[in-house]
Amino acid sequence: MTHNFDPSTTQAWKTLQSLAANSADQSISDLFEQDPQRQPKYTLQWQELLLDFSKNRISDEVLTALFDLAKESPLANHIESMFNGERINTTEDRAVLHTALRDPATALQVDSEDLAPKIVNALAKMALVSRQIRNDEWRGSTGKTITDIINIGIGGSDLGPKMICGALAEYAHPALNFHFISNVDGAEILTTLRDLNPETTLVIVSSKTFTTQETLLNTATTLNWFEQTLGLKNAQNSRHFIALTASPENAMRFGIPEDQIIEFWDWVGGRYSLWSSIGLSIAIAVGFDRFQQLLDGANAMDKHFRNAPMEQNLPVILGLIGIWYSNFLDAQSHAVIPYCERLGLLPSYLQQLDMESNGKSVNLAGERIHYNTGPIIWGQTGTNGQHAFFQLLHQGTRLVPMDLIAVVNDPLSNPQHHRILLGNMLAQSAALMSGQQDDNTAEHKVYEGNRPSNVLLMDQLSPYNLGALIALYEHKVFVQGSIWNINCFDQWGVELGKKMANELLGGDGVDGFDPSTEALFKYIEGKS
Ligand code: F6P
Repeated sequence: MTHNFDPSTTQAWKTLQSLAANSADQSISDLFEQDPQRQPKYTLQWQELLLDFSKNRISDEVLTALFDLAKESPLANHIESMFNGERINTTEDRAVLHTALRDPATALQVDSEDLAPKIVNALAKMALVSRQIRNDEWRGSTGKTITDIINIGIGGSDLGPKMICGALAEYAHPALNFHFISNVDGAEILTTLRDLNPETTLVIVSSKTFTTQETLLNTATTLNWFEQTLGLKNAQNSRHFIALTASPENAMRFGIPEDQIIEFWDWVGGRYSLWSSIGLSIAIAVGFDRFQQLLDGANAMDKHFRNAPMEQNLPVILGLIGIWYSNFLDAQSHAVIPYCERLGLLPSYLQQLDMESNGKSVNLAGERIHYNTGPIIWGQTGTNGQHAFFQLLHQGTRLVPMDLIAVVNDPLSNPQHHRILLGNMLAQSAALMSGQQDDNTAEHKVYEGNRPSNVLLMDQLSPYNLGALIALYEHKVFVQGSIWNINCFDQWGVELGKKMANELLGGDGVDGFDPSTEALFKYIEGKS
């Protein structure tokens, strides 16, 4: 693992800077006219995923310089370090091995311990528990069938399973309802519990650390509910609680029976944890075999990422395109627009994945850096977004590169709806690029065009393809972080706010805080 690298000192970076300075007048439409082969040349098919990146402000020279940048950077070295289990999360001194969860057969060791048996055991436990719940063999304390499952967790312990359960709704168990509770806002848990029967409710507490304020309070509230309704004193001996955690001792201290804890490990980052036992609600919802297919798709993408040449490597290409916009064309954000309602939570999921990983301003050597790193990730489904924020994308003053993602065949839709959905996506991508202007057009009707987009198609929204898609984005983020020479796997930026919330809510109250916070605190206290 290389720590001393500044991408801005490379020859490729300088070439890209001068290409960017000369690119003001370069139009994507002209690039298509100049090269009839542009579309096939700028399209990559991998298994059932197709990426068309031809509608970007990228010429052959830019692309070549971007690949040169990747080759001058420690990317290839970082990829091997990650897959080999080196402690690349330097500030926490941890290996980063979510990829091993998708390929337990690789004989890796961490701290002289074989990973394979641990991973295989946890998967076997997930298979068993999910089968028991799906087959009505796991019942509540009064013997009734489980009908409702609450996943309590936040961040990576919520977004991954929630997003995947939504995306794979096509395969969901017909008699099980899932509720995902994350926010400490009591209205969320209390309104959920209000409509549920405790006898038929199972709670999955998902927390890597089992110390997260929101998760512990929501769990305590749920324990109270069981006590008040069923007289269950705590989770002990109750079939109503399962814990998924890297801190089993903390879960046991909370009263969760040891054999109802499924472990994962500190070498699985929170935002990379849906592949671990944190994915239990997915396995319950769609069945363990489909959870395995999700892992298989991600594993296939891992192999592609590790082995394909950079020029044909999907995560590398997506990462480099993002670097071009962030570091050379000064784009501040990146939009993700799934043209698939079931992928509605993908933008939120990718927000955590990308912004918690690459929202950094210190490099691996611990030095402050002076170039842009991770962009703001945002978005929502098309066509909904078209009727909300696409105005800015077409006519606003900001450059917003984007990924438009769609599923070619959708058995849950019908040909009429699906044709219109996909037609809209293609029309938007074309309109953003070509724009519309002629001499007689009033200014407010001018579309300047030249606005870039990637189109990413999946033949179908299968567990396997979805696994591959998520792994593609994980590795895209890693490509960028490696070139920026930052640690993608820590998240120190979230700590200060947590600490100050504890101070404010603790003994000293708002003493020592700034005047604005003090006044607001007192205002709220006075009114409540
Ligand atoms: O505060 C951020 C964070 O640590 C995320 O990285 C993580 O996914 C989330 O909180 C939840 O943490 P835990 O799984 O330990 O409850």
